[in-house]
Amino acid sequence: MRECKVLGIESSCDETAAAVVSNGREVLSNVISSQIDIHTLYGGVVPEIASRKHIERINQVIEEALEQAGTPLEEIDAISVTYGPGLVGALLVGVGEAKALAYAAGKPLVGVHHIEGHIAANYLEHEDLEPPFLCLVVSGGHTHLVQVKSYDKFQIVGCTHDDAAGEAFDKVARAIGLGYPGGPKIDRVAKEGNPSAIEFPRAKISGSEFDFSFSGVKSAVLNYLNQCEMKGEAVNQADVAASFQQAVVDVLVGRAIAAARQLGEGRIAVAGGVAANSSLRGQMRQACQEAGITLYYPSPVYCTDNAAMIAAQGYYEYMAGVRSGWDLNAVPNLKIGQR
Ligand code: KG4
Ligand code: ZN
Repeated sequence: MRECKVLGIESSCDETAAAVVSNGREVLSNVISSQIDIHTLYGGVVPEIASRKHIERINQVIEEALEQAGTPLEEIDAISVTYGPGLVGALLVGVGEAKALAYAAGKPLVGVHHIEGHIAANYLEHEDLEPPFLCLVVSGGHTHLVQVKSYDKFQIVGCTHDDAAGEAFDKVARAIGLGYPGGPKIDRVAKEGNPSAIEFPRAKISGSEFDFSFSGVKSAVLNYLNQCEMKGEAVNQADVAASFQQAVVDVLVGRAIAAARQLGEGRIAVAGGVAANSSLRGQMRQACQEAGITLYYPSPVYCTDNAAMIAAQGYYEYMAGVRSGWDLNAVPNLKIGQR
């Protein structure tokens, strides 16, 4: 088979990223310029600053990605870019850049859904993983159980009714004084705490067995902190982090295994920033082993936002004949499976 190299571009939130991936599977380069330092000053992502930083960095990030891959733009087969969901101003930087490059170099342009990219991150290191499989998508903005029917066909079987899992991590981290970005900090601090110290609720949604809700556990943590303050009791940060994390992980693992069993899926992949969580990875591993299910998850660098995942998904869509026009626009609330 002739080698097909796709340049991926990602700018949906606070990472400016570009990557070159060969045949949807082999990462030739993966450059990520994170804006975390700047947004940390404000306790979260400031959309206007994110857009400005993307503009400042995107050319250099793409140049580096091509150089590290040893692939000049002329040798790239297609350019793929995240066009939604995400922050509109941030997305527009990547989309505008990808259109300009594709037009100038005469290359095909493929718009990619950010979450479908997160799912495709699993192809980068698992040669044997091919659809169909079940994917637990857990990011800062999304919590979904998705049946991946083929490389470009998706069916949502469960989703959150309120906060996304990552959003709950970020809000609880802020409440217990860990700051932004919350997920990795809770993950680290929880290792020193007792996950059964405080019983936080595991929400059940009436009527939909594979749906999620995380606003209840978040409120329960806030109430607990208030009560401690009123009683003048010291808060054990590590115990709160570990107990909160356990409540979230219990629900994610329980729903994913139940859905796989009911749908007859023998394989589960985990994707998105929260897939980097060490407790989620460990407990999914154990639960899948007990249930006879094969588990896949990406290395941490491919769990959080990156462009290699966009190039991987872009490759499969390019092979399926998807081409975006010069009118490709940012779609901040793009739905999975929508074109
Ligand atoms: O996928 P991602 O990079 O961006 C979105 O598409 O949203 O996910 C970012 C989210 C943040 O909420 C962050 O706190 C969370 O993923 N996250 C983690 C960990 N690393 C990142 N949550 C829990 N444990 C982690 N180790
Ligand atoms: Zn993401």
